[in-house]
Amino acid sequence: MQEFNRSEFLVETVVPDDELIISRTDLNGIITYANETFCEISGYDIDELIGKPHSIVRHPDMPSATFRELWETLQNKKQWVGVVKNLRKDTGFYWVEAIVSGVYKDGELIEYKSLRSPISYEKKLQHQKLYDKIRQQNGENIRKVIYQ
Ligand SMILES: Cc1cc2nc3c(=O)[nH]c(=O)nc-3n(C[C@H](O)[C@H](O)[C@H](O)COP(=O)(O)O)c2cc1C
Repeated sequence: MQEFNRSEFLVETVVPDDELIISRTDLNGIITYANETFCEISGYDIDELIGKPHSIVRHPDMPSATFRELWETLQNKKQWVGVVKNLRKDTGFYWVEAIVSGVYKDGELIEYKSLRSPISYEKKLQHQKLYDKIRQQNGENIRKVIYQ
């Protein structure tokens, strides 16, 4: 079980609905590109993102099963669409719907890309509950906040 007691962990960054958060990775999930909105929303400078695994923004509330499904979908050359809670550099969070798919050059898969957009409050609540349940079922960390 993991315990969190940093108040920043509870702060949500709201994703603007007129901009897309874009990134690309190599075939191993290492970030090769991130747009300015990605940097702003995640709280990282571009130099802190390029060359890092995309799991740099992985939030501990996300079940491993979701990412297993993402990678399986990509390996089957299909597009993955899903709701993701991401971790900011300052340990705050932001929710998005991500569309992840292959980038092809001359018919050859060279990279992956992700386009993310905001989701409604109801959808966030629904997914927080769903992901809590999946993590619990799989024996993964349970959320716990310690007030001091
Ligand atoms: C194009 C692309 C975008 C991704 N975007 C995210 C993301 O925004 N947040 C995230 O946690 N994982 C994202 N992933 C999945 C990560 O590569 C990784 O599988 C995930 O964070 C789980 O980390 P782990 O494999 O170290 O457990 C993305 C993968 C790809 C290929």
